[in-house]
Amino acid sequence: MMQKPKKMIVANWKMNVTSEKDAVGLFNSIKNVVSKLDYTQMICCPPHMYVNQVAKQANHKNYRVGGQDAYPEESGSRTGETSVLMMKNAGAEYVILGHSERRHLETKSDVARKVTAVLEHDMSPIICIGEETRDKNWKKTLQQQLKDVFNRVPKKNPENIIIAYEPIWAISSDKKNPATSTEYMEALEVIKKELQKIFKTATAVSKIRFLYGGSLDDKNIEDFLKNADVDGFLVGRVSHDPRILMTMFRLVEDHVHKELVEAITK
Ligand code: 13P
Repeated sequence: MMQKPKKMIVANWKMNVTSEKDAVGLFNSIKNVVSKLDYTQMICCPPHMYVNQVAKQANHKNYRVGGQDAYPEESGSRTGETSVLMMKNAGAEYVILGHSERRHLETKSDVARKVTAVLEHDMSPIICIGEETRDKNWKKTLQQQLKDVFNRVPKKNPENIIIAYEPIWAISSDKKNPATSTEYMEALEVIKKELQKIFKTATAVSKIRFLYGGSLDDKNIEDFLKNADVDGFLVGRVSHDPRILMTMFRLVEDHVHKELVEAITK
């Protein structure tokens, strides 16, 4: 039987960890627990400044490191930018791209160029898409976001592609308003149908991994585990709270274990 890839919890620390000491300390406080997990993997995405230091601690397959963005050219006169190559050399294997908190700083074609560059460097882009509100056009918004990326990106190595559905209305909202598993599944259907049109083969689409992100925590993750077809989660605010993160890992781990036991004993 083919082994399923581990479920991913992507910890997007955003700009919430502000020193090397805190970044390394936070990572080390989580990593021993993560190294013992059987079915779950953590992708830690620190601020650019600390990617290298965190990656030096990431010596186990269960925890890997990613960047929160990267510039698509390898080097050049680009003041203040961090290139995809620099990210890779710093130890990142993943890069979050097109996050709604960055979209106002970049064009659609910038996002597509970044995705192409990340794939060309044998890294995995975590491409964020999501509608602003669930108005009558929300499905079209998702379809267009996918077209804007993939019509410009070579359709190779779908196994390296990760798509995160992060509805903007659910991200970091004060009300803590996550999507429900039903809303996620509605979006996933739209996303997969559009990708099928773009990639033209179901096999390619079956290799892409899909995450949910937006106000996730240890209270609402179970809804997704029980009721949604999800390969993992993209977590913001609680990703730098080791206690909550550990509970989330435990819930994912227990859920996958239970599913496996049920499959064997059926
Ligand atoms: P919150 O978990 O804080 O809502 O953030 C989600 C997110 O933007 C992850 O990339």
